[in-house]
Formats: sequence, structure tokens, C-alpha cells
Amino acid sequence: MELIHRDGLSRIARFSTGHGIIETPTVMPVVNPNIVVISPREMKRLGASSIITNSYIIRRTERLRETAEKYGIHSLMDFDGPIMTDSGTFQSYVYGNVEYNNLEIVDFQRKIGSDIATILDIFSRPSDSHSEAESAVEETYRRINEIDDKEGAMIAGTIQGSVYPDLRARSAGLMGSSKASYLPIGGVVPLLESYNYTKLVDIIIDSKINANFGKPIHLFGGGHPMFMAMSVLLGVDMFDSASYIKYARDSRLLFPDGTRDLGSMSAFPYWSPINGKFTVTELLNTSPEERTKSIAEHNLAAIFMEISEIRERIFEQTLWQYVESKARSHPFLFNAYRRILERSRELAKFEELYKKSPFFYFDSYSDSHPVLERIKRFSESTNLGGREMEIAGETWKPGRMDGGFISNVYNRTDHRIRIRWENLSVPVELNETFPVEQVISASRGQYSDFRSEGRKPDQPGSVDEGGVEAIRNFDLQKIRTVADLQFIAGIGERLFPDDVRIIKSRNTGRIRNIMTPDDRIIATMRAHDGFLTLNVEGAMRLKEISAFPMFRVQVDNESASFNSKGFNVFFKFIKVWDQDIVPLNETLVVDENDDVVAVGRSTVSGYEMGQYRSGVAVKVHHSIAGEDKLDS
Ligand code: GUN
Repeated sequence: MELIHRDGLSRIARFSTGHGIIETPTVMPVVNPNIVVISPREMKRLGASSIITNSYIIRRTERLRETAEKYGIHSLMDFDGPIMTDSGTFQSYVYGNVEYNNLEIVDFQRKIGSDIATILDIFSRPSDSHSEAESAVEETYRRINEIDDKEGAMIAGTIQGSVYPDLRARSAGLMGSSKASYLPIGGVVPLLESYNYTKLVDIIIDSKINANFGKPIHLFGGGHPMFMAMSVLLGVDMFDSASYIKYARDSRLLFPDGTRDLGSMSAFPYWSPINGKFTVTELLNTSPEERTKSIAEHNLAAIFMEISEIRERIFEQTLWQYVESKARSHPFLFNAYRRILERSRELAKFEELYKKSPFFYFDSYSDSHPVLERIKRFSESTNLGGREMEIAGETWKPGRMDGGFISNVYNRTDHRIRIRWENLSVPVELNETFPVEQVISASRGQYSDFRSEGRKPDQPGSVDEGGVEAIRNFDLQKIRTVADLQFIAGIGERLFPDDVRIIKSRNTGRIRNIMTPDDRIIATMRAHDGFLTLNVEGAMRLKEISAFPMFRVQVDNESASFNSKGFNVFFKFIKVWDQDIVPLNETLVVDENDDVVAVGRSTVSGYEMGQYRSGVAVKVHHSIAGEDKLDS
């Protein structure tokens, strides 16, 4: 997998198959080779880049088998893009038994030229006992191991484990490190059919975080547009959908938020391919074949429309907000959303240091957003009691910490001053840092601007200002506190000793550069998110005051010589790294002697770092021998 864009666990990424590249997230429509309602060629026009079909059905049907063996699956399906084949596991689950064993069915898939061939995994039902599900996990693992290593098809090794978190985690770990290069989450169709999205949330999280970030994750049967955004939010890359055709046969139309019966509709939506071709009454009165085909087209359009929206949301890094609003479209989705919030702490390590888009704060549910976890934990750790003042939210407005407050109050006392920000109490020094300033809040209207009104904050206003000398400097405290949040508590004071010079923007009054006394830039404070970008000087300082391998990736000397000239760091050259790296945070690039050669921004978390094989791990912005690449 090569990562292109990310938003927490969700990603736009690419992987290659024998018939081209697949860009995730996407849906593979299921094509039954016996009953083609919409041809694979038409599928392409409707948005599908890849399809899935069933090798078991092909093998059992003589006519199909002969053509597939002679001319290949791409010719049989008349489709030149990537084709995945399933194995017959699902038939075995539905009918109790199948005629071929694992090796036979995988060999057959390879022989007919499938791009992604699936093992005959053991389907565990949600109602299975722990010991039944455990045997299925073990047998499925045995089956992936009995397959020989051959060039050609990617092998899909299904993660099973029923509803048991320990078994999902175990199966994910086993399959993730096996020869399977594609990882479907299986055994979930009964849960999807019964709208048990809450259980699915746990299954997806337990599978995703224990599997392998370097491999695509597929949700078997998960192609209903209602639950796709939530699945992608939790790290699903791929779906297959038979629902577009199954629902069409029952005259049911898919929508991003649910399903409607044709008979109970008044009109088709503007975006539907049926709109303008038929009225509802006309479609009801047309032949069953034509009706099924038309609805199937509508259903595919609904699916791919939802996929485009999800992709755009990842690009903007607003997928969470989309899921939050979708959660209100059905009580079962809402319940599942609440389950995600309960697991917010586990998800927080995949959250970027900052997002491109503002943080939407709606209500107390927003308090559990994983993006807040970092600032929450930091704020709690600095909430030490003792001499402290809190400014009420009503007297504080984001980005407007002035009106004499700083010179009159802040700089003349050593109290820890905090702002009440939503339901949190945050050190006032973080007032410009994501997401404190970048919030769009439902309670925004309650804030008043005390500068324009000439008011001072209530409590701090009681401090005696008369003739008291400044004993600290807000700007210096601010850059130190941001560094403490961005790296680790206590770093700020050592990165920025008393002798640094702080340069501010003439236009905005905001801190811009932090310099050494002899005018070298240590770091820049970014206007859009209030975090620090380190220059080489800052990188060297950070390295000196932190133990190996904190905040770093270590590369071999050959890669280091490239990185020292400003070239990005690729995953494959990284030898050692800090497991706690935060995605998009400043990351030091060091050579085999732990000497800094460059500094940049990490594309993934330390947790994911060892699992990706291709692509850029650190986007270098400053290096010891290169031109500086300005980033903002
Ligand atoms: N299709 C739907 N669920 C499954 C599953 O668990 N395994 C396989 N191989 N195919 C499926």
C-alpha cells in the first residue's frame, strides 16, 4: 500500500495488481458470471475500477470453467481491470459444504489469472462459541500457510474470529504477518444484514489495528452506502457489493443514508441515472428485467457517489464530521457511533497532529473526538492545582488574547492561567494551537471579544497590577508550551532557553520565527495551526535533549546522504524509529551515528511505521546540505 492522503485510520492509498492499480477506498461490484445484469464494461462507466466474482461458481459450471481455463478470467468477464475472485467460503457457509479443497480452489484461481485470489477460509458465525471460532481461526491460518509461494495473484487471507475481540486480534495478527497480501474481514454478513453496526465497529477496530497497515483491508459484504463511511473511518479500504443487484431484484433502491422501496417512492432523486428516463409509476409497470437493471444502475450510482464523498472527506480530513452527521440518519448507526467514541483513546494515536480543516464542535459528544485526546491529556497533566486562574469561556475569544491582558496580567504573575474551552480547561498558552483556535463551535455565539469591548477577564482582573514588574514573557511561555505539547513535557524550556529571540509578523502580530542570539532560525510557528516547524538548528537541539530514538527515524548511511540533501525518506530505508511518532509531527532523520541529517514531517504514526513497504515516510523540509523547502 502506498499512502496518498490520510485522516486518522482512513486513507486514500494505492496498490498494484496484475491488471492495474487500485486506489482506495473503493467498492468491487459482485458480478455473477451466470447472470450478468450490468456488464463489467458498463460497471466501469458507472465508477467501478475493479470487480469481484466467484471462482467456485465458475469452476462448477462447465461452460464457464472451460472458457476461463482456456482464455482467462478477464476474457470470460470481458473486463480488463483488476478482478478479485472469492473461493466458495460463503457457499460453504450457506449450503454447508463445497466440492473443492483450499489448494484446489486457490490453484484454479491462479490458473484462470485472477488478480486477487481468496483462500477457502472458515466462515465463523456471530453465534459461534469461542472455541468454534477459535478452531476456525486456526484452520484458516493453516490454510494460508499451505499455499505455496508463487508469483502472480495476490492472496486474500481472511480475518475471522466471530464477535470475540481476542480472536479477531489474533486472526488479524496471524494473517497480517502471513503471505496473504490482501486482508478481508470475514464472517460479518449476518451482522450487516441485521444492522448490528455496533458489533461491527469492534470487529473492524480489533481487526484493523492488529493486522498490517501495509496491506489493503476489505470488508466482505460491506457495500451498503449507509455503513461505508463509518467502516472507512475505522480503516477499511475495500468493499464488495452484491447489494446493488440483490436489492434491485426486490425493487429496493439504495441511498447514502438507507434504502427505499420503489412502491413507496414518489420520484427519483436528481442524481439518479433513472431520473428523466422513467417515472416511478413507469418503472413499476415495466418488465422485471428492465426494472432490475435500472434499479441496479441507480444502486451502483448511490454506492459510487458515496465513495466519492468519502474520498473527498479524507482529502479534507473531515471524514469524522461526515460520520457524525450520518450517525444521525439511523439509530443503529448512532449507537455504533457511540461505540466508536468509547474507543476514542485507542484511535487517538492514529490522529494527525493537526488537520487541514477546522474542528467542528457540536455538543458533549464532540468531547470524545480522538482529535481532542492529545490536548486533553496534556491539559490534565498541566492541571496541577496550586495557584491557578481560569478565564471563563464567555470572556475569551479564540485568537484575541490581548487588550492588555498579557502585559497587565499574564506577564506579572506566575499563576497558571487556563481558559475554559468547551468542556475542557486548557493552558492559555495554547490559544493559537490546533484545535483550540481552529474550532468552529456551536457555542461560538456566547463568546464576547473583551478587547473590542475593553473588558478584562474577570478573575485575573483582580490581580494587583500597580507597579509590578513583568516576571515572565507570554511569547516565550507560549512557544515552550507548544513544544511541550508537540514533543514532551519539559522540552520547551530546553529547546528555547532564555536567550532566544522571538520575531513576530508585522501584519498579524503572531509569532513567526524563533532565533538563536546569532540569528539562526531554530523553529517557525505556523500561522494556520499554531504548531512548530523545526529548522536544522531546532532539530539538532531536539536531538541533543532527547534519548535515542525519540522523535527520530534512523536510516542507513546511504539513504542519509540523500536525505541530507533534502530528499524525502522512504519507508524501506528506515532501520529504527520512535514508536510514539505522531502523524504529521516534526520528525528527525538521523544516520547510523545518530547524527541529524534532516528534519521533516512524518506521514504515519510510529505504530504504523514498520508496516508500510513503499512510499514516503518522512517529508523532509530542512536538511543539513540541501535547500530548505518552505512548507507553508
Ligand atoms: N463473503 C462474505 N463473507 C465472506 C467470508 O467470510 N469469507 C469469504 N471468503 N467470502 C465471504
